[in-house]
Amino acid sequence: MTFDGEQRGDSRIQTLRIGGVTAEQNILLAPMAGVTDTAFRIVCREVGAKGFLYTEMVSAKGLCYGDRKSFELTRVTRPERPAAIQIFGADPLFIAKAVELLCESDADLIDINMGCPMPKITKNGEGSALMLDPARAAAVVRAAAGATKKPVTVKIRKGWDAARANAVEFAKAMEAAGAAMIAVHGRTREQMYGGRADWDVVARVKRAVGVPVVGNGDVFCAGDALRMLEQTGCDGVMIGRGARGNPWIFRGIAGAAARRPAPAERLAVMRRHLILAVAEKGEHTGVLEMRKHLAWYVKGMHGAAAIKNEIFRLTSSAELLCRIDQLGETL
Ligand SMILES: Cc1cc2nc3c(=O)[nH]c(=O)nc-3n(C[C@H](O)[C@H](O)[C@H](O)COP(=O)(O)O)c2cc1C
Repeated sequence: MTFDGEQRGDSRIQTLRIGGVTAEQNILLAPMAGVTDTAFRIVCREVGAKGFLYTEMVSAKGLCYGDRKSFELTRVTRPERPAAIQIFGADPLFIAKAVELLCESDADLIDINMGCPMPKITKNGEGSALMLDPARAAAVVRAAAGATKKPVTVKIRKGWDAARANAVEFAKAMEAAGAAMIAVHGRTREQMYGGRADWDVVARVKRAVGVPVVGNGDVFCAGDALRMLEQTGCDGVMIGRGARGNPWIFRGIAGAAARRPAPAERLAVMRRHLILAVAEKGEHTGVLEMRKHLAWYVKGMHGAAAIKNEIFRLTSSAELLCRIDQLGETL
């Protein structure tokens, strides 16, 4: 068996059905605040992602209070589908109201964040802090599931810390509360993003529940994704950091194309991403966002550090476009 991801039609790459919604492939784009905005999701789709694409996390309270920016984060366009909106919150009443407000959205799934490790979130009992309070987390899932016809899913961690690595029991409780899929990031909250993700916990959750289980953590290439599917028996793989600057990772896993696209295509995608970002967020914010993405796109290129420094000094989309064109000489 080969794990190079360039074989055709790997049997581990399948459709993924969550609730009544089917995605053509079981490789998902993870929610990432500050990264997985509309422009990036469209780019991922256009270059070959065929699984569920996730929004950045959105505050349930922000939605309930009518915060404009929160609503913008939930906007899902047709080409992005099938897509999930991820919300965070720990109050079942706010969660139910927020989910109701999203009923008319084009999104296919509503996901609840139970993994965010940031103190500003966990100090309110939200994100990964919900794993310390399974009863509250279950009430949150019940409230969400009762407020929408869309499938409600959860994204959890291995647990809060090594002593409280309760993912298996927690996942069973979320399933009983109505979760239609469980995504498991194999790190505890205490680990934040450090150390290695434990894929064994993904396998254990998979054996414990009947709903689909999606594994997450440290998938950076096709081989990683295929190994995670093989080793854990999970139903799908969710990719976060491995997609930054590398939206082609999805089609590489499906064996639909060589992993490394030709230079001309890479430049064309960077240009397209920039145009989408500016169209979506306006010149100023679009340029700021895109500088970050370009820094990821150039990672690994010859002279990347110097190019990155240069990119961060550019202030207009015209300058960025020009710099992208010049990258042709380095690729
Ligand atoms: C910049 C950044 C932002 C993230 N934002 C979110 C988020 O909004 N919601 C969430 O559930 N996880 C978030 N995560 C966690 C990822 O979804 C994922 O679980 C984690 O990065 C591990 O997967 P990976 O190894 O494929 O990156 C974020 C991660 C990063 C690096």
